[in-house]
Amino acid sequence: MLMRRKVRGPAIHVRGAMASDLAAALDPVVFAQDKLAFDPDGWQGDFLRETKNSLLNCSRQSGKSTTTSVKGLHVATYQPGALVLLVSKAFRQSQELFGKVTDFRKRLEPGPVLIEDNKLSATFKSGSRIVCLPGSGDTIRGFSGPRLIIEDEAAFVDDGVYTAVRPMLAVSGGQLVMMSTPHGKRGHFYEAHKSNEFRVFTVTADQCPRISKEFLESERKALGDAAYRQEYFCEFLDTTDQVFKSEHIERAITDDVKPLFGPAGQFVVQPLKF
Ligand SMILES: Nc1ncnc2c1ncn2[C@@H]1O[C@H](COP(=O)(O)OP(=O)(O)O)[C@@H](O)[C@H]1O
Ligand SMILES: [Mg+2]
Repeated sequence: MLMRRKVRGPAIHVRGAMASDLAAALDPVVFAQDKLAFDPDGWQGDFLRETKNSLLNCSRQSGKSTTTSVKGLHVATYQPGALVLLVSKAFRQSQELFGKVTDFRKRLEPGPVLIEDNKLSATFKSGSRIVCLPGSGDTIRGFSGPRLIIEDEAAFVDDGVYTAVRPMLAVSGGQLVMMSTPHGKRGHFYEAHKSNEFRVFTVTADQCPRISKEFLESERKALGDAAYRQEYFCEFLDTTDQVFKSEHIERAITDDVKPLFGPAGQFVVQPLKF
């Protein structure tokens, strides 16, 4: 009886571990919960499972960086040879995201065997790599075939960087993830959020269970209405350096107004309306 139990014990344990590994490999939400002790919010779970290009237009502190680092680690762990690129405005910022990936990696039991690990990249024995990139288009052109590109604070990243990273996905069919709070009606993050190419996740601060009403109220007072709406309610506002609001310019461009110059080059005086 004892002998049988000894034999069956480990077998059941191995089967259990294998099942758990398989479930974690197939489902990044299970990976987050079972392997990383990270319990995703609803939208975070949806995003972790999404394989289409995704755009996270989410409040400050809603959990963008945390969730994308889980996704990056999941890809690197279960897709041997996968290249995961972390892009941001500057090295320092992509390094910060890399730090989150590293913190989660250290929770893995057993941890993946690394053949290289430094402040800017990690290479797994499986051939997967996670690499931090600087925010300059010229220096990032060398990479090809990434499975996943994560662009942090995308509204602040140069459009040239975006132009440089997109073609890398041409052959790999990898996923592009952009995350940011808005920063005006301009640039690739704004344009992408209007396009149909990305699944857009919009998460306002009041939808985040960790941000209190009291905190938001004090932020509204401290920041003023425009910045508050931008930082916490995901609104693309006219840039502060713009003299006229976009909607005013759009309204001004109308066919109703007679031209200053008549058909024969004659100057036509418009009546002033008050
Ligand atoms: N699902 C979650 N459960 C618990 N804490 C979370 C969760 N998602 C994010 N956090 C925490 O919220 C804080 C902000 O997360 P972060 O990813 O840095 O936000 P963002 O990049 O959107 O500003 C961090 O302390 C992070 O650990
Ligand atoms: Mg962040």
